[in-house]
Amino acid sequence: MPSNPGPSPRQTSAVCSGDFVLLLFVSPPPICCSSWWGGVQMGPPDPILGVSEAFKRDTSPKKMNLGVGAYRDDHGKPFVLDCVRKAEALISSKQLDKEYLAIGGLGDFTKSCALLALGADSEVLKSGRNITVQTISGTGSLCIGANFLSRFHSASRDVYLPKPSWGNHTPIFRDAGMQLKAYRYYDPSTCGFDFNGALDDISKMPEKSVIMLHACAHNPTGVDPKPEQWKEIADLVKKRDLLVFFDMAYQGFASGDIDRDAWAVRHFIEQGHNIVLSQSFAKNMGLYGERVGGFTVVCNDAEEVKRVESQLKILIRPIYSNPPMNGARIAATILNTPDLYKIWLGEVHGMANRIIKMREQLAANLKSEGSTHNWQHVIDQIGMFCFTGLKPEQVERLTKEFSVYMTKDGRISMAGVTSGNVGYLAHGIHAVTK
Ligand SMILES: Cc1ncc(COP(=O)(O)O)c(C=O)c1O
Repeated sequence: MPSNPGPSPRQTSAVCSGDFVLLLFVSPPPICCSSWWGGVQMGPPDPILGVSEAFKRDTSPKKMNLGVGAYRDDHGKPFVLDCVRKAEALISSKQLDKEYLAIGGLGDFTKSCALLALGADSEVLKSGRNITVQTISGTGSLCIGANFLSRFHSASRDVYLPKPSWGNHTPIFRDAGMQLKAYRYYDPSTCGFDFNGALDDISKMPEKSVIMLHACAHNPTGVDPKPEQWKEIADLVKKRDLLVFFDMAYQGFASGDIDRDAWAVRHFIEQGHNIVLSQSFAKNMGLYGERVGGFTVVCNDAEEVKRVESQLKILIRPIYSNPPMNGARIAATILNTPDLYKIWLGEVHGMANRIIKMREQLAANLKSEGSTHNWQHVIDQIGMFCFTGLKPEQVERLTKEFSVYMTKDGRISMAGVTSGNVGYLAHGIHAVTK
């Protein structure tokens, strides 16, 4: 409550009429500076959405928005997958009702969501050791996960994020009351994975801490451990007795193969890690605004599943009661209809391949522009993003002089690069890195 909530209406006169006394009230003019929210400070704009705002204002016909992580086709247009259109038609033809979903979401969706991540041969699925709830995309999943840890992982409040990590990880875990820590991940001298640095830092993490791992297509660096490196990380994490939180927002988007991209998650589980897992269907099904995701906890046994499930429901209920159904119906229809599933696999592969091609073309164009820098990392990095290695002042020049918009850390969304603009992008990058 502000100290001065403002004046209350004052009685200014009374009019007598027979037995009734009519009281007239007149509000005095408001005091201009008093407000409930006078103490609210202006916050900084979101670093990624701020880039999009600046892009919108730019009138250059050559402008490029490489800030936001959303897939574009080779004409630079948003892409709705054919399997999604077909699933929508199928759902529409069924004239389904709009009753509330259960707190944990649509059963057909959560089952196939877990199956997609853990694989058909998963011992965890066969023995019913997982609980998977539908969430509001990957962000909602992380948020439910962070709050679940905050409530029930009493052994430690420390969450170790890779340095750097997706920008939203920090506020999600901080707001849930966890302590943010970091481990070395990206090596700017190679634009690659700092394997030794990561191992060294992991070996010093206090037992029972939480370690956040990006399952594939690490955001923002595009740098993933190789399978042999994952194996060593899994062994060390086991030795340190750490709780693993996998964030899998790009399954299929890294290599074009959904099983290959889930390899690390499955390997950790096979090695006996009872992980927690966040999944998003924003990128791999192009369901961005539909907000479809899942949160999974791998438990010791089916009895533990029941207890964890009950607490997840208690956590979710006062936040949004139950999740939205439309996107989950679309995803479930695709995952459970063999013809649509086949189309989807082809489309995921197509999106990943177009990005891989753009990486190759960008590196080739930089070479033909005459750049003498080593741009191999542009090709080697994986997934939607490329951590170019551009310095903030070079990013600024690229934006000012070439109308190419990206985040200040030099990250570009390869999904926004097309055969039509890759030459222009290479020209601009070369000009600011000469
Ligand atoms: C690493 C990572 N995790 C989670 C998300 C969550 O995305 P969404 O909430 O759109 O599913 C993203 C999206 O950019 C991401 O890059």
